[in-house]
Amino acid sequence: MNQEQSTFYPYIAIAPMMDWTDRHCRYFLRLISPNVRLFTEMVTTGALIHGDRDRFLRYDPTEKYLALQLGGDDPQALATCAKMAEDYGYDEVNLNCGCPSDRVQNGNFGACLMAQPDVVARAVDAMQRAVSIPVTVKCRIAIDDYEERPFLKSFLDSVSATGCREFTIHARKAWLKGLSPKENRDIPPLNYDLVKEMKADYPSLRLILNGGIKTLEDTQQHLKDFDGVMIGREVYQNPYFLATLEENIFGNTTVSTRDHVARAMIPYIQHQNKTYGTPTKTITRHMIGLYHLQPGAKKWRRYISENAHKDKGDDTVIADALAFMSQ
Ligand SMILES: Cc1cc2nc3c(=O)[nH]c(=O)nc-3n(C[C@H](O)[C@H](O)[C@H](O)COP(=O)(O)O)c2cc1C
Repeated sequence: MNQEQSTFYPYIAIAPMMDWTDRHCRYFLRLISPNVRLFTEMVTTGALIHGDRDRFLRYDPTEKYLALQLGGDDPQALATCAKMAEDYGYDEVNLNCGCPSDRVQNGNFGACLMAQPDVVARAVDAMQRAVSIPVTVKCRIAIDDYEERPFLKSFLDSVSATGCREFTIHARKAWLKGLSPKENRDIPPLNYDLVKEMKADYPSLRLILNGGIKTLEDTQQHLKDFDGVMIGREVYQNPYFLATLEENIFGNTTVSTRDHVARAMIPYIQHQNKTYGTPTKTITRHMIGLYHLQPGAKKWRRYISENAHKDKGDDTVIADALAFMSQ
């Protein structure tokens, strides 16, 4: 894939989503879209330093452009993990300052870091010193009772003073108490205008808009106002939305059909099963939405859900599901 870092190359990224954007999901999404940027799920510094590093970091080369998202607050640990990302060939390392879950708050990372911009600045500084790939930040517009505009500006001031140039902003507040992570993705209102104001206030920063982007029209509009867009749930639930983006935004005239994408997953599943013992259902669960709103979508979903766990990795499930749909 030819992804120049030019300002004019449309920037569309698929959001990091825990339990969703694992490497199997990313491999699948890449078959539809050669041009979007992909992010891993958040990986904590503790998991990388003390756990099975290769399990967390390995990926298929086709996934690139690929960013590793890190969760943590300790500059030294984050720098060490950023270096691991670079050594593994990741294109970018991103610091999570937007996740509000209790688990993440207990570790003092994610969205609660937005109230400690000096900590984030030290961390980003240490990461940048450790690697030559871009170090970027994903954040909210504010947390809790803080007034959005001054809070976001003070965060951007502190962190950009390290030389960090790219921020992906989920354009809603996070409430650290009282809302679940899921509610925190829906209930606080979106404020795109504030992010637009930041674009005017910080013309030298690359600001990527995230949150609630669901259509081609939204995407086209936001690409005019921002340096890029990041899309999460819409792509997971309706992966073939990426085909629309490929055709209309990247001018891609050779996007694979849904059936072709489904069939292209068969050798991948066989390989994962043989090499790593990965059960078929671990991979096919990400493919449930492939036929979203298409004739046969219900049959596809049902066949995969009811049969994927029985598959022994020789993968007959996909071919059988396709045959079942056309009956
Ligand atoms: C299941 C799920 C898991 C998520 N995990 C992460 C994560 O690991 N790191 C992160 O920064 N954001 C995470 N998010 C938030 C998304 O990256 C994104 O900011 C959010 O869904 C808003 O974008 P959307 O409206 O396009 O979905 C997660 C979202 C979902 C739905």
